[in-house]
Amino acid sequence: MKLLFYAAKEYDKKSFGLAAENYPDIEIEYIDHELEPITATLAKGYDAICAFVSADVSGDTLEILHECGVKAVLMRCAGFNNVDTNKAKELGIVVKRVPGYSPEAVAELAMGLALAVNRRLYKAYNKVRENDYTLKGLRGANFNGKTAGIVGTGKIGAIMCRICRGFGMRVIAYDVYQNPELADFVEYVSLDELFAQSDLISLHCPLMDSTYHMINIESIKKMKDGVILVNTSRGALINTTELIEGIRLNKFHGVGLDVYEEETGNVYEDRSDEIMMHSVTARLLAFPNVMITSHQGFYTVEALAAIAETTLQNMIDAKNGVHNQNDVA
Ligand code: NAI
Repeated sequence: MKLLFYAAKEYDKKSFGLAAENYPDIEIEYIDHELEPITATLAKGYDAICAFVSADVSGDTLEILHECGVKAVLMRCAGFNNVDTNKAKELGIVVKRVPGYSPEAVAELAMGLALAVNRRLYKAYNKVRENDYTLKGLRGANFNGKTAGIVGTGKIGAIMCRICRGFGMRVIAYDVYQNPELADFVEYVSLDELFAQSDLISLHCPLMDSTYHMINIESIKKMKDGVILVNTSRGALINTTELIEGIRLNKFHGVGLDVYEEETGNVYEDRSDEIMMHSVTARLLAFPNVMITSHQGFYTVEALAAIAETTLQNMIDAKNGVHNQNDVA
């Protein structure tokens, strides 16, 4: 079975190379190119392709993959908002993903961002390196005794709830389904109540029509002054322009983002020599209370190993017509 692996990084080759030792029937070809309509033609002769969050798995791309004879699209990530699942179903292309490779990896980064913006660790690091030992601009607030509001209490959100409890926080949550495993310490509230009561808000729900721009100027105005907002889920959960407006209204003590609306085109690229012409990200980075990382929530040894193992098993399952919770089309 032949698998074409798009946008392959060195760490992908390493983790998939190790996992592939257990899947001798799968032959993997790694290429640097991102999956988009023009590069989809390269998949001729392959049984399946492997793509990531930044790929363009639109209807146009899927049509070309179908013409090339590709039978399965294997997403090496949890989110699949970049996949036209209806088109895939129409064309009979199986789409599988890795729903829960290491939720701890993402939840731990979410708390890392919360701590970093709370205590301005990114500033402190640079100041001390410059021999500046003053404390100006570094004051934070204890998390202990404060309220954490977790939006989405699935695999990652549930762990974030436990981490926040470990910090001595009261934990409230909003989800369309209540997670019974959290019943002993999490209080479910409406989204408006969560906005009104939380000192730390962390987003862990998927990007869908119903969650698109759920953080906008109206919701920001409902939040406490001095709130910390963390997003490790998907960029478009937040309306970036209105977030900037909220920051200018002094609403936030800090904002930590591992994902943001303009990340496609940036993720895992070195663009340090470029002049950004119309970048809202650049505007965000100009604020002293914002820290952005480049979609690295999944980037731990454990998560990479689990992603590789599940993706290769997904290929075997797709070939054998096995359907399970990893299917999105
Ligand atoms: P999950 O499917 O286990 O949990 C998602 C939760 O969101 C579910 O409990 C669901 O009921 C809830 N939800 C659905 N609609 C909602 C709504 N309208 N409002 C509030 N909650 C809603 O997913 P998991 O594994 O916890 O992942 C969460 C998100 O994290 C993914 O959708 C993905 O976008 C993101 N992610 C980010 C990574 C990174 O590297 N930064 C890596 C992996 C995932």
